[in-house]
Amino acid sequence: FKTDVKVGGSGLEPPPFAFAFDIDGVLLHVAKPIPGAAEVLRFLNDYNIPFILLTNGGGKHERDRVRDLSEKLGVQLSTDNFVQSHTPFQELLEGPDSLRDKTVLVTGSDYEKCRSIFKEYGFQNVVTPADIFAADPTIFPFQSASSYPHPSQPLPKPLYNKPTLDRASLPSHLKIDAIFVLNDPRDWALDTQIITDLLLSHAGYLGTYSPLNGKGNGDNGGGWQQDGQPRLYFSNADLLWSAGYHLPRLGQGAFQAALAGLWRRITGGAAELRRTSIGKPFAETYRFAERVLAAHRREVLRAMGHHVLHYQHHHQHRQDPPADLAPDGGSGGGGDKGGEAALRRVYMIGDNPESDVAGANGYASPEGTEWVPVLVRTGVWSEARGGKLEGRFEPRTVADDVTAAVRWALRREG
Ligand code: G3P
Ligand code: MG
Repeated sequence: FKTDVKVGGSGLEPPPFAFAFDIDGVLLHVAKPIPGAAEVLRFLNDYNIPFILLTNGGGKHERDRVRDLSEKLGVQLSTDNFVQSHTPFQELLEGPDSLRDKTVLVTGSDYEKCRSIFKEYGFQNVVTPADIFAADPTIFPFQSASSYPHPSQPLPKPLYNKPTLDRASLPSHLKIDAIFVLNDPRDWALDTQIITDLLLSHAGYLGTYSPLNGKGNGDNGGGWQQDGQPRLYFSNADLLWSAGYHLPRLGQGAFQAALAGLWRRITGGAAELRRTSIGKPFAETYRFAERVLAAHRREVLRAMGHHVLHYQHHHQHRQDPPADLAPDGGSGGGGDKGGEAALRRVYMIGDNPESDVAGANGYASPEGTEWVPVLVRTGVWSEARGGKLEGRFEPRTVADDVTAAVRWALRREG
């Protein structure tokens, strides 16, 4: 990747900008690097221009996905500059509503991989649809028990199996407190059966049924009441994504839309599917990504001998650099070698107007950092197929590919 643009002057002052790269449709088509992608990342590494990878993908632990990406792209990456769809779910382990010791159901492309991701995150009780099927194959009459790999851990408690609610025996049965979709489910049929069972249950006890407050069952318009059901979390709302096929493929957002349609039918149109969705374009994910990028950038610049002051925006003051690192010998509060080193702009290079462009346009950074969306033609969007690039879907520019996108940004930064 050779650029005709001077990069960051003589490199003495830290660049006030950084990059966030989407993966699918920008850097890779599934496992195949997109031409130029590896060279661009190596170039930015060589010139110490900070970047993160910000993907709606998932299904592997960050450490494993980063190792794969480093190999595929031939560039040194780390979990310090990598955010994938479900990375922010780790924040649910903390705080007053911590799910650490609760029981959660996870699903995605590989049940055991999803379980191991959440166990490594720190969730103590992680259940998969295959565990439930193994415990009672009659819950899903379309498959033989042999059709699922035997789960690595049997369920800790039995499934409730009485037609009417027996409150006295409830505590001895399995209760699911939250449901997580980590990446594109493979078995939509089993997953939708189990998830709808849980959303219709009494307080997350699988096998119970919440009394309808309407007349009869959901089919004839009976209402349906909330009864302490588990919260439902999706890690990614992408309806489409760019894989190896020449047309976009259905993503996790398609599974969510199918489930929402099924839910409307089951509840007789009475209830919209209540769920929390993260990933791009949602602000939580951009906020999380900005924090990861800022921390990573501080390390990159520190390695260059610059000291970036760490804003604690919620205290509205600068946190003075540790004395041993302050450039002027520890008087604290002083500027850093390279003058003001705040991060002013992040170029969000993406292929999906609905997630990469809309997210950057809609994100109001508490640090005042401007997120500048750049749309590439190597993914979901194209002039022929793509929708109008108006409003929140309007990028700052459209570039043929990631190389052209980075060159445009560097030229703009002069
Ligand atoms: O499942 C991955 C897909 O939703 C898109 O991922 O990397 O383009 O945000 P990405
Ligand atoms: Mg993409």
